[in-house]
Amino acid sequence: MSFSIERYKEESKKVDITGIAWEEVAAHPLSKGDLFCLHYMMDIENHVPLYLSHLLVTRACMDPILTAFLACWNYEELWHGENIGRLLNLYGIEFDTQERIANVRANLGFQNSVSLMSTMAGSWLLKDFSAVYLTIGAINELSTLTGYGALIRKSGHPVLKDLLSRIIKDERKHYAFYFNSAKEWLSGNARAQKIDRWMLDRVWVPVGQGVKKQEEVDALAMYLFDDEQGEEDLLDLDSRIGKLPGLSGIKLMSRALDAARERVRHNPKWAWRMIDNEEWAVKPPKHSSVGELTTRRTPQAEEAVAP
Ligand SMILES: [Fe+2]
Ligand SMILES: [Fe+2]
Repeated sequence: MSFSIERYKEESKKVDITGIAWEEVAAHPLSKGDLFCLHYMMDIENHVPLYLSHLLVTRACMDPILTAFLACWNYEELWHGENIGRLLNLYGIEFDTQERIANVRANLGFQNSVSLMSTMAGSWLLKDFSAVYLTIGAINELSTLTGYGALIRKSGHPVLKDLLSRIIKDERKHYAFYFNSAKEWLSGNARAQKIDRWMLDRVWVPVGQGVKKQEEVDALAMYLFDDEQGEEDLLDLDSRIGKLPGLSGIKLMSRALDAARERVRHNPKWAWRMIDNEEWAVKPPKHSSVGELTTRRTPQAEEAVAP
């Protein structure tokens, strides 16, 4: 698996949607589980700029190769979110994308600032922060493309399959960058390997957790991976990450699935009720209006200042 940053900079572009049969989206059914996953995935794709804001204040961004990658990566991810939103809208689910993104961000509240500052401080205290961040990047990209593959299989929706297959090609490149960069950092660096493993075993969470609640993360995991094929996919994912120096035998995604199954065993309604009750709408935060946080004036505010 090779990766050239020069080639990536030259070739990076928004996902090519030429010829996608958008007009057929509504002609094929999507289950509640498919729709739940699509909303989750769209929200996480759309969350990338905020994730980026956490990265740009870290020690890792002293590396110009990394910042060149992030500049292109952020643009590509934007179009993943946009196109998933487009597909949902065409399927007949009505929402305003900008409002939804603003609500997701506003709901993070104070926790977002705490997380940003602790990531920044941690990165400057920890010499091998990059090893941990790059490994997490590799896991996130690989989980994302594995999740898209699982959703293609579960939904059997031809237009969704076409769109996600194109997005998966981008995610593969992102994965290759992170994996190769992590490998470079970890090779022959026993201290980085030790810290990386220690951190992954203790602080790693599946992609999207933090923006999404534990129960939502579990609902996605149960819907996509709670079968023989899904379990195999996650074991394969772990074994790929286990090829990085110092991470042999590590269990992350398969362990997360086991933990989700355990919570469902305790409470059979857990996670599945999120899907059954169609819990994918994002409500505005209780205490701060989106308008205040986005500097955009809400229609009411505009009326108030109108002569
Ligand atoms: Fe993406
Ligand atoms: Fe990606």
